[in-house]
Amino acid sequence: MSRLIVVSNRVPLPDRNGQPPAGGLAVAVHSALKANGGIWMGWTGETVEEEPGPPTVREDGAISYVLTDLTQRDVDEYYNGFANRVLWPIFHMRLDLAEYARREMAGYFRVNRLFADRLVPMLQPDDVIWVHDYHLIPLADELRKRGVRNRIGYFLHIPWPPADILFAMPIYDTILRALSAYDLIGFQTDYDLENFIGCLQRDGAGDTLRAADGRQVTIGNNTGAGARIAAYGREFAAAAFPIGIDTAGFERLSAKVATREPVQAMRQSLGGRALIIGVDRLDYSKGIQQRIDAYERFLENNPADRGRVTMLQVAPKSRSEVPEYKAMQDAVATQCGQVNGRHGTIDWVPIRYVNRSLTRGLLAGLYREARVGLVTPLRDGMNLVAKEFVAAQDPADPGVLVLSRFAGAARELAGGAVFCNPYDTEQTASAIGQALSMPLEERQRRWERMIARLRDYDVAHWCRDYLGALRA
Ligand code: ADP
Ligand code: F6P
Repeated sequence: MSRLIVVSNRVPLPDRNGQPPAGGLAVAVHSALKANGGIWMGWTGETVEEEPGPPTVREDGAISYVLTDLTQRDVDEYYNGFANRVLWPIFHMRLDLAEYARREMAGYFRVNRLFADRLVPMLQPDDVIWVHDYHLIPLADELRKRGVRNRIGYFLHIPWPPADILFAMPIYDTILRALSAYDLIGFQTDYDLENFIGCLQRDGAGDTLRAADGRQVTIGNNTGAGARIAAYGREFAAAAFPIGIDTAGFERLSAKVATREPVQAMRQSLGGRALIIGVDRLDYSKGIQQRIDAYERFLENNPADRGRVTMLQVAPKSRSEVPEYKAMQDAVATQCGQVNGRHGTIDWVPIRYVNRSLTRGLLAGLYREARVGLVTPLRDGMNLVAKEFVAAQDPADPGVLVLSRFAGAARELAGGAVFCNPYDTEQTASAIGQALSMPLEERQRRWERMIARLRDYDVAHWCRDYLGALRA
């Protein structure tokens, strides 16, 4: 089997026990590399004063981690700048938050060139290269310019926006054109794939669009099977591969930790109150403020439930150097304080708010303890928390997932989750009420539908599907 080279913005190194850190990308890609070995290249997460030296290599079993530092200027322009102040808000349909700066765009392309320069000397002719996420869209184009002819795949972990949104980005055409240098472009859902094909057609780029089996692809009638595309003078494939989790591992973990001390301490501290849980990076795309509004509305509409429920919001800080994230961190902290001040009593705190990362085990135990999982993104590529919440439930007494229809996971969890529209406070408040009062038999029926899908299409399945298609 040919060697696999994975490239992502960050390289999430495993901990002392060999476990990958939290996050879908980290867990998923570790499982692919562990199976067959290979190289994982990316940024250390550290900044240096001077131009960074040659990459450092760390061996861990069959995996070699190739780590590169970046200068503060690189991080400001590429990561805090173009990636997280232009691509992230635009791909999440937040045109109002996009801050376009020519200097940052140049930094984004400069760091992609740096990654290409670092990668080329390591390559062997039959290596398969798998590039991840919005930080590295131009990487394949840079590699092609350096004569690389290897198979190169790309997977986008976040949504792809409709044409009218994408075209508001000043250099949208450069970004679209750069993607055509890949052999296979993977999206989370068939909506994203449709949006992407729509962008190509509206840009007049897609001269021939054929389904994977050779049929003509028509927008709005895409089966999700994928498309062969000829655009900008290149031929490539694009398809939807919804990312999964390590379902069996998460099920085992949550059952194991249920009787452990920290989970029991949490249960005791609840004093019989029903737990409603939210777990997210502190990101404006996650709809945390809208969720707290809906919870408050639920308390206002249901006076009898006051004092009988507790909401736990776990939200580690993220991208704090980006002004929009900093502003949101302050706003959520204030909002939690206000809700607690308005509705709390001397022996009841309506919202517990924690700004920390928790271990996978504790997270699994808390999900299992919760009666309701509130996952309310305004837009999300997939949302792995939704899948982890389902996998962590006790089959004999499962909690209910309240899920935004704007999460990629909604496509797979239809029929199991209680859907909500996070922009509609009243409707989300009713969904919370419906979840809290749902009879056991209905909870089990819904949970079984969801867990069957998650067991079947887990992260290993996702990896096999994607790499099988790329190698083919
Ligand atoms: P995103 O990739 O945008 O952060 P996802 O929901 O897809 O969103 O993935 C988030 C991942 O990070 C999940 O695996 C989740 O368990 C993990 N995570 C989120 N918050 C925490 C936390 N407080 N502690 C530990 N892990 C967390
Ligand atoms: O899922 C989107 C993503 O940007 C991943 O690429 C990344 O691992 C995760 O969110 C966390 O983001 P960051 O690396 O900016 O902290």
